[in-house]
Amino acid sequence: MSVRPPVKDPTTPPIPRKKVTIQALRALRQSKTPIAMLTAYDYPSALACSSSTLTDITLVGDSLAQVCLGYASTTQLTLDEMVHHAKAVARGTTHPLLIADMPFGSYHTSVSDAVANAVRLVREAGVEGVKLEGGREIVDVVRKLTEVGIPVMAHVGLLPQRHSALSGYKVQGRSVEGARRVVRDALALEEAGAFSMVVEAVPKELGRYITERVRIPTIGIGAGPWTSGQVLVFDDVMGTWSGHKAKFVRRFANMKDVRDTGVQRYAEAVRDGTFPDAEAESYAMDETEWDKFLHSEGIHVQRGNAGDRA
Ligand code: KIV
Repeated sequence: MSVRPPVKDPTTPPIPRKKVTIQALRALRQSKTPIAMLTAYDYPSALACSSSTLTDITLVGDSLAQVCLGYASTTQLTLDEMVHHAKAVARGTTHPLLIADMPFGSYHTSVSDAVANAVRLVREAGVEGVKLEGGREIVDVVRKLTEVGIPVMAHVGLLPQRHSALSGYKVQGRSVEGARRVVRDALALEEAGAFSMVVEAVPKELGRYITERVRIPTIGIGAGPWTSGQVLVFDDVMGTWSGHKAKFVRRFANMKDVRDTGVQRYAEAVRDGTFPDAEAESYAMDETEWDKFLHSEGIHVQRGNAGDRA
């Protein structure tokens, strides 16, 4: 194959950004510098996330389930699958803080199971923190993980792992009671030790209110422009698919068209025989050596008619 792992080139200067820490995120929030977080699912997308010095956090989101593995929902993703992909992302990550989602079911049975599963993500995959969806009902887990030194990013508002219980992927906190519930969850999770929190699909006013009420950075997705930072799914940003596009998604590239055009042009060139070119894209053997080879095969070469069987 022609794709090889990149060789470290001593003439290429390293990305001029130090590893992003939790302290650095607090400083960004303090200075009102919006935090940029993006998901990654494998080595190439991790390299892409690390290619800009402006990205602060790479999240191995459990959207991995739909985006990469073709599952219908995140609830089908296993911890083993998450560990496998997070390892690849870790190999491609440089300065962004690396966080992985704890899959559905991996932090619900008991606090000790949750710790054991989070430890796997830290030890085997090399992530620097974990993200958990939920509200007040998971504060014991958040507290314990924080106590044992595993940084926790909380996730409130729309919780995709509970899409069945929520009757779909709906905007949360639109009513007084709904908004109060999300705020109470956010405050409880901060109190339990979460270092940051994703706020998903809530009205922009609520996104701002939560950001003002908590002292940790909030990362919005469909939560308006006034959270401490933003996160989007890598494939939404890159436009690798053309299916449903949520209101909050902006496509910053159109990789689907570029990719599909590449596939079409490749297949056409194979079909019409223009790929590979016999000179530019093929290897050749020394003529004398080739003649000797044919001879060894019992094939008698008459030059000008090479390759004819005797
Ligand atoms: O799984 C995911 O990709 C996420 C975010 C987009 C926040 O949780």
